[in-house]
Amino acid sequence: MAFITVFLVLFCLVCAWLSNSRIRKSGKLPPGPYSFPIIGNILQLGQYPHQSLAKLSKTYGPLMSLHLGSIYTVVVSSPEAAKEILQKHDLAFSSRIITAAGQAHDHHKISMVFLPVGSQWSKLRKICREQLFSTHRLVASQGLRQDKLRKLRDHVQECCVSGRVVNIGEVSFITTVNLMSVTLFSVDFTDFGSDTTQEWKETIEALIDIVGCPNSADFFPVLKRFDPQGIKKEADFYFGKFLSMFEDIINQRLESRRTSLPHHHSPKKNDLLQVLLDISEGSDYELSSNDIKHLLLDLFVAGTDTSASTVELTMTELLLNPEKMSKAKDELKNVIGDNNQIEEADISRLPYLQAVIKEILRYQPVGPLLVPHKSEHDVEINGYTIPKNTQVLINVWAMGRDANLWLNPNSFEPERFLDNKVDFKGRDFELIPFGSGRRMCPGLPLANRMLHMMVASLIHNFDWKLEPETKTKDGNTTVKFGTAHNKAVPLKALPTML
Ligand code: HEM
Repeated sequence: MAFITVFLVLFCLVCAWLSNSRIRKSGKLPPGPYSFPIIGNILQLGQYPHQSLAKLSKTYGPLMSLHLGSIYTVVVSSPEAAKEILQKHDLAFSSRIITAAGQAHDHHKISMVFLPVGSQWSKLRKICREQLFSTHRLVASQGLRQDKLRKLRDHVQECCVSGRVVNIGEVSFITTVNLMSVTLFSVDFTDFGSDTTQEWKETIEALIDIVGCPNSADFFPVLKRFDPQGIKKEADFYFGKFLSMFEDIINQRLESRRTSLPHHHSPKKNDLLQVLLDISEGSDYELSSNDIKHLLLDLFVAGTDTSASTVELTMTELLLNPEKMSKAKDELKNVIGDNNQIEEADISRLPYLQAVIKEILRYQPVGPLLVPHKSEHDVEINGYTIPKNTQVLINVWAMGRDANLWLNPNSFEPERFLDNKVDFKGRDFELIPFGSGRRMCPGLPLANRMLHMMVASLIHNFDWKLEPETKTKDGNTTVKFGTAHNKAVPLKALPTML
């Protein structure tokens, strides 16, 4: 055992040295802190990497070099530098680092999240843009989501009647899982009070953790084949669980399409699986059942925890800032009316609610470092060379908290967006919580609808009183390396009906 450990350490040392000497030969690299042998700067990441990196970039600048194990990394912390990477040199920086876990079930060879920019990835993005998340399609599927939002309000109403405290993170999670699952394939995955909720939460969080968070094999890729932390094994298990569930759903749907009589006009489903199966049967795109299964996995996993956490974080800020809560509620009362329920088409008439969502995505972006990008070849930026195969992290959290860009950056003030046209659609580089350019989040149009609708459903016609235990202003969150993060203390509050 001791021999193997010594061997692995020496092996890493040699590989790290070789890779670092290759990097050093590349030209003038961006400045950065001293990097220790083997581990590089891993220890400097601390508990909240986006915050530690923001602090370091104050010393070393908006393009900063780091060594995370043997992975040479550049951290980007200003809108100007982000624009260089995501707009001017978009194509050169549009690849991904493949984590060890991402290779489970060969997901990286099929997945939109991991595929490099190429014909298969472009096809999947085109399907998302033109078919799945087009305005037309989202309007067609909104009835499915409306029903889930009604369930959310009914649940909160029941809690009002029985005087029960609501765990807002949990109800946001249940609602998001169901909003995603009805939009994708007209199935409710869980329900309020159901035992399956915890299992879903654990499975999705475990999957995001193991796929999104680098482990020792990602810092030292030479260790990948040894799978020292058993990450690949764990990823195989969780991916397998989802993939077999999606396979069953696809097969059931195919069966019902086969057996429905041609002259029998059963209503066509309005979900995205229907669209994908229609596409796969047509001749325009080549899309196999396996491609569909892996695409559903990407969409479901990428869309659920991100959206649910954003709703919980928004509610936290509204509950901690009662005057902002009142403004949002007053707007709903004036625009929608006491007895009416909000619909997706109403969002455009709710500027304060829109400002609240923009502000939370500035203040607490759930992907504070986006998803890591990788350079395809050497690129010159601002007199520095960024070598081929560099991992690039875009610190959107740092940009959101930069006092040179925002007044009072550390306080939650939706008003800043009322007289300001800045939006998060990828054109204003000071606010890019969904990224920008080729690799930008394809689910943004759906996320945008879900976030506004969930927050509006939770506050319209309800008053909330924070439970004492959650009254602390815990802006800090249990963030994992660059992936969605949840609040450290669950947000609990008592609802009453107006
Ligand atoms: C990628 C944010 C919701 C699907 C991303 C990226 C970010 C992001 C930062 C990486 C961008 C980059 O690499 O530069 C968010 C946030 C959400 C959200 C903040 C909600 C609050 C969703 C939803 C879906 C989705 C609802 C699906 C319906 C994806 C996929 C990718 C992605 C598939 C990978 C795209 C690729 O690599 O080509 N998202 N997202 N996301 N997102 Fe989202």
